[in-house]
Amino acid sequence: RSAIMDYFEIKGSKKLYGSVKVSGAKNAVLPLMAASILNKKKIKILNVPTLSDSITMSKLIEEMGGDVKFDSDNSIIVDSSKLNNPYAPYDLVKTMRASFYVLGPLLARFKKAKVSLPGGCAWGPRPVDFHLEGLKSLGVKISIENGYVVANAKQLVGNKIHFPKISVGATGNIVMVAILAEGTTTITNAAAEPEIQQLCKMLNKMGAKISGIGSNTLSIEGVKSLKPIKEVSVIPDRIEAGTFLIAAAAVGGEVEIKNIIPEHLESVINCLLKANIDINIKDNSINIKSDGKNILSTNIETNEYPGFPTDLQAQWMMLMCLADGTSTIKENIYYDRFTHIMELNRLGCNIKLEDSVAIIEGNKNLIGADVMSTDIRASAALIIAALCAEGTTTISRVYHIDRGYNKIEKKLTDIGANIIRKK
Ligand code: EPZ
Repeated sequence: RSAIMDYFEIKGSKKLYGSVKVSGAKNAVLPLMAASILNKKKIKILNVPTLSDSITMSKLIEEMGGDVKFDSDNSIIVDSSKLNNPYAPYDLVKTMRASFYVLGPLLARFKKAKVSLPGGCAWGPRPVDFHLEGLKSLGVKISIENGYVVANAKQLVGNKIHFPKISVGATGNIVMVAILAEGTTTITNAAAEPEIQQLCKMLNKMGAKISGIGSNTLSIEGVKSLKPIKEVSVIPDRIEAGTFLIAAAAVGGEVEIKNIIPEHLESVINCLLKANIDINIKDNSINIKSDGKNILSTNIETNEYPGFPTDLQAQWMMLMCLADGTSTIKENIYYDRFTHIMELNRLGCNIKLEDSVAIIEGNKNLIGADVMSTDIRASAALIIAALCAEGTTTISRVYHIDRGYNKIEKKLTDIGANIIRKK
């Protein structure tokens, strides 16, 4: 775990050459670990990224009476057979919102749970009303007491649920209750993200009956009980892969990004091709060549999968600062996910915000400066900017980065970047 004062010192403008192996997806391993609460026997989760978030989730499972062992070769053994305390305390949930994903599996297994409401995050409120409304329609009694969701259910019953907006977390939580409810549940406006697809496929392997996986309408036929499975391997992290693709496009050089599922990156690849970046797609790797120049300005909008992911918005913004003209970014998932604009402007970018649309001036020459991370993905954009900047940049609060990227400075150093972690 990174100490609170760790910072990165980066010397910029060296091209990147070599290959990067992408780790397992943070946003897949967290729901899979939550789902292991329903597995009731030991399960081995393979290709787990060593991130503070996976460590936080394992701490939470242990607090509830489960047991998590970090095995060699990036795998963990989760044993929830003795898990008996359906309680997720504030001090853990406040450090990682995804802890809220245990609410559904706890209710499905124990018919009761007490889970702290998650706090906000760097870019504003992230409510959980869809989670709570959905649970109520499955027969769960919910009350909010001292910042905690206190939930009880005599009988879980299937129902028709429509989410006002597509929500990854709410889809996961509701699915993990509906699979053991009596009768059928249909969820419209459900999330189709690859991470949710993997969760549903794992639950079906355990005997659940979920259909429509990968679409925005899921129908779930409740079953009496599930049967434990022995192992599951986490899908590659499409956001880490996209971060390295954009870094190589911005900094320049020739990089091979290995261990990916290109189909999960279709929208990002299309935008990079539109920006005139030279990309060669193989079965589970992508080769990218760039001179860091002749990048065409390309407007994007973020959308739910398979649209352009909001978790790559900050990184794309950084790339457009180098493009041949002005471009825009419309953020449709979080209306205020723009804390990175001020930090990028300190490095010489010129980005303005006009009612939730960012306007980015191109052709910038970046100059190193002291900047600060505000959230996982903004930090990634700052790292890319620092690699493109002349001179030295320091990035403070790297604990944000360690939550979502597995040894990012080692992966970057291995392809020629000059980045050092300092205390
Ligand atoms: C997941 O968060 C990801 N986190 C986020 O990645 C990602 O940005 C987000 O999905 C969108 O793709 C994990 O998977 C651990 P949502 P989640 O519910 O589930 C609103 C990262 O950097 N909403 O899909 O919390 C919400 O405010 C992180 O890895 C409600 O209004 O996101 C947002 O505007 C950052 N009420 C939109 O829906 C609710 O009850 C999408 O949020 C729930 C959500």
